[in-house]
Amino acid sequence: MKKRNRLRAMKKRQRMVLLAVVAWIVFGVVAALVIVSRTTEEDSGVTVQVTPAALSEAAVKGEAVFNANCAECHGPNAAGTNLGPPLIHDIYNPGHHSDQAFYLAAANGVRAHHWPYGDMPAQSQVSREEVGLVIRYIRELQEANGIVAKSY
Ligand code: HEC
Repeated sequence: MKKRNRLRAMKKRQRMVLLAVVAWIVFGVVAALVIVSRTTEEDSGVTVQVTPAALSEAAVKGEAVFNANCAECHGPNAAGTNLGPPLIHDIYNPGHHSDQAFYLAAANGVRAHHWPYGDMPAQSQVSREEVGLVIRYIRELQEANGIVAKSY
């Protein structure tokens, strides 16, 4: 009788241990999945679908300047990458980020404030005139994608 009780107690303990092990494995797998999904989210950054626009002559020139100096971070068509935000985004509509914000960004860089990418380094190799062409390019793309001035 006593022996049977002890046996039963041992089996119960074994079951508890097994349950604990299973619980830990489940916990580990869930935690790993959460971490993986978080990091892939961060790694891929924010990108948007951009509809190409029929560009003016100035904007075509701006696109070339943009591709050479800005697309590395802001992506082709300014759609964003894992290094910088999309500029074809409502945050950058002309009412919220005027042309002046673009001149300042290129001349002085930008301290991270809207996004988790970090600071934007100054792009002093790009002249003010060239930045003006980039602005034409971004504004025409924005307009083609329904991003228009809003007052704040
Ligand atoms: C090395 C990466 C990198 C390059 C190259 C780069 N940018 Fe940026 N840019 C960023 C990041 C990151 C931000 C977002 C900062 C934030 O708001 O958190 C940003 C923000 C901006 C902003 C928003 C400024 C504001 O006031 O919030 C503008 C405009 C901009 N970039 C334009 C440009 C232009 C034009 C070029 C090319 C001449 C360029 N960027 C090149 C990384 C880059």
